Amino acid sequence: MPLFPMSRLLRHARAHKYAVGYFEAWNLESILAVKDAAEEADSPVILGFNGGFLGNGRRRVAEDIFHYGALGTAIAERARVPAALILNEAARVPLLLQALEAGFNVIMHDHQECSPEESAVINQDLVRAAHAAGAEVEAEIGELPAHDLGTGRATPGEKTDPEAAAAFVRRTGVDALAVAVGNVHMLEGRKAPLDLDLIRTLSRRIEVPLVLHGGTGIEPAALAEAIRLGISKINVGTVLRRAFLLALESYFRTHEAARVDPSEGTSTGGEQDLLAGARRAVTVEVLRLMSLFGSAGMASRFSKEES
Ligand code: 13P
Repeated sequence: MPLFPMSRLLRHARAHKYAVGYFEAWNLESILAVKDAAEEADSPVILGFNGGFLGNGRRRVAEDIFHYGALGTAIAERARVPAALILNEAARVPLLLQALEAGFNVIMHDHQECSPEESAVINQDLVRAAHAAGAEVEAEIGELPAHDLGTGRATPGEKTDPEAAAAFVRRTGVDALAVAVGNVHMLEGRKAPLDLDLIRTLSRRIEVPLVLHGGTGIEPAALAEAIRLGISKINVGTVLRRAFLLALESYFRTHEAARVDPSEGTSTGGEQDLLAGARRAVTVEVLRLMSLFGSAGMASRFSKEES
């Protein structure tokens, strides 16, 4: 299937009271793991990578966004379920523009280092470029607190103001809006209480689909309520990376690297394959979340109703 406009997937989700997950990938195994889960669950899905991580200056080797675009589009287009492909949270505008050329059909600017005015101007430009390329833009208004595993503390963040959000959407023409409603990025070990009244107000005021980042640190019951109130996309990252790391650790508890057959351990994809096991661990986590988001079984329904 060709890539689907994300807003089309999200409007169907909003109409039928489920949410489409964006399950953030970081390499081949993780993006395949998400695709595996989407096909197994018959769920629409948003595939993609994080522009802040791929574009950061601390990488040992600079990454080429065209590699990731080619990988993502090939996987999305060959998936048996409808999928969009996002470059999420990139602070560098040139990287976002390159992502459009590389085939991503959604881009999102990371506005943390910008004033609200700068963010509005950047998003106006991104919307122009993206729409001309047949792609879409997600933006954020307000700012999520970010949890630091080391200190156990979170940055203050700033909840989304409904008036400011409505004015921003009108001015920029963005296609989806991420909101700060108590959700916290990268929160493990406890759950963030969501401001459900604010979600209710935002979903009445804002016409474009609403997005909840920080999917790892939200209570299942609060998630269900947020979806009922109008959230139609949920971003998940940390819990998937954790599942991958734990699978690698558990492999080395039972396998001694010097004794594993190198082909079986890395290449054949069987029971002894380290990365095949880690891929499956991510798939299992995504399957759990798709069922929580209510998106399992919705791919066929979307295809029937939208074709
Ligand atoms: P978590 O890492 O908290 O799940 O959040 C992911 C996210 O919001 C990516 O945009």
